[in-house]
This record gives sequence, C-alpha cells and structure tokens, in this order.
Amino acid sequence: MLTGTFESIRNVVSLYRVYYNLISNDGVSTDYLIDHSSIIYLIDSYGNFVTHFNHESPVRGETFVTKKVAIFISGSGSNMVALVKSMHRLQFALPTLVVSNKRDVSGVIKARNLQIPTVCVEAEKVAGCDFNFEASIQKELENYKIDIICLAGFMKVLSARFVDFWQGKILNIHPSLLPKYKGLNTHERVLENNEELTGCTVHEVTGKLDCGRILGQATVPIFPDDSVDAIKSRVLEKEHILYPKTLQQFCLGRSDLVIM
Ligand code: GAR
Repeated sequence: MLTGTFESIRNVVSLYRVYYNLISNDGVSTDYLIDHSSIIYLIDSYGNFVTHFNHESPVRGETFVTKKVAIFISGSGSNMVALVKSMHRLQFALPTLVVSNKRDVSGVIKARNLQIPTVCVEAEKVAGCDFNFEASIQKELENYKIDIICLAGFMKVLSARFVDFWQGKILNIHPSLLPKYKGLNTHERVLENNEELTGCTVHEVTGKLDCGRILGQATVPIFPDDSVDAIKSRVLEKEHILYPKTLQQFCLGRSDLVIM
C-alpha cells in the first residue's frame, strides 16, 4: 500500500491535467500529473500509476492509498495477463507480484514479459509440506506489501489458515456459474448434463472450495455439438473481461454484483 499526502498544485497543464506535488510518508517529494476524468489517475513523472481519486479530490493534505495486487497462477496465465493489462490501462490498482506454484509454465514467462516480479514456490520442493509452502509465499506477499490476492487458474487448494488470514482480500475465478459445478472438470460436467448455458464466476475465497461470496458472473451459451475445448475457450474469453471488471469494482469498494 502506498500512502502520502498532497502538498501543493505545481502546474496547471490544461483544464483537465494538473501537476501536483506530493510528499510521501517517507518524506519524499514528487510531482504528479492528475487527469481529471470521472476517476482521477495519479501518474508519476515516469508515467507509472500511483493512485486514483474521484473528481473532487485531491485537496491539499489528502491521504492517498493504492492497493497492491498479487496474482497466483499455475499454468498459461491468460487471466493474469488480462488482469495486469487492465490495471495498467485503467490504473485502479498496482499489479505487483505473480506467484506460481509451477516453475516451467508459460504464465511465468508472460509475467516476466509484462515486467511483473515473479515468485515460484513449488510445494513438492519445499521441505516440510504445505505449511512451509504457504509460509514461503506469505513471506513474499509481506515483502511486496500485497493488499489483494487474485487466484487466476491457481490449481492448488490453499489452507484454511492462509485463506482466513487473507479473508476479504482474496478472489478467485472459476469456470462455471457457481454455485453449480464447483471443483474440477466443469465443462465436461456441463456437457454431460446437457446444459444450455454456462459461464464463469469471480468470488471471494473462503475455507470452503468455490463457496465464497459471488462478486461477478458472466454467462456463455452452449451450442449443439459443442466440444469441451470450444466451451472452454468461449468461457475463457469471457473470464478475461469479467475478472478485470470485477477486480476494478472490488478495488473501488463497490459491492454491486458484476453481471455480464
Ligand atoms: C481458467 O479457466 C480458470 O477459470 C480456471 O483455470 C483456467 C486458467 O486459465 N480455474 C479453475 O479451474 C480454478 N478452479 P489461465 O491460466 O489461462 O488463466
């Protein structure tokens, strides 16, 4: 979490773009550019996002807070890429760390290409079982001062202890319309049951698998003669829109359900 206070307006660039001077809590003074749209984005002189405000802010002395997001992956990381790109574009949070429980997966390379620090902790290679696996991850999350965790195709079940610690700050995307089809092989089961609709769900993570509060849901039709692969890619395409949108609402503290 980044915090600091505004010190002064430095330079009015145009009606909508204003440079502010900001003193961070560590006493560092920097000029920032504010873009006055419906949400104001605070950008530093290197073009990096710092935080956002509503259009009445900021005022001198106002405190700013920006959430740092860690994304957990186990595979191709396409949702991770969608989340990072959306945070970069819309600047509602800082994509700060990618955690993978598999070293040789394409998602790790994609994260590095996006210049996001990566941490790979493979449970099988950490002596002393899951407890130490999660303790290693927790240490990294603390090092990077992470505020929110997004599970994005993270295929290892986290302990109740870990999930309880992050309660209210850990989200997951699941490839079905929860509460239907919790667990694995969702598309296979959807096909077997001749469903006409499926989709994806973003939910808070709790100690019970795929059971936390639903934050967003998108539906996808199933066509005659559909295959598992066809459904999977149609759902994945929707996931890439739903997850960033839902995370944005979550970061802005909005509690209304995202429906697509
Ligand atoms: C996604 O379809 C996600 O919903 C699913 O794994 C895929 C990961 O794809 N997650 C689960 O099944 C969790 N139970 P990605 O690595 O390309 O984002």
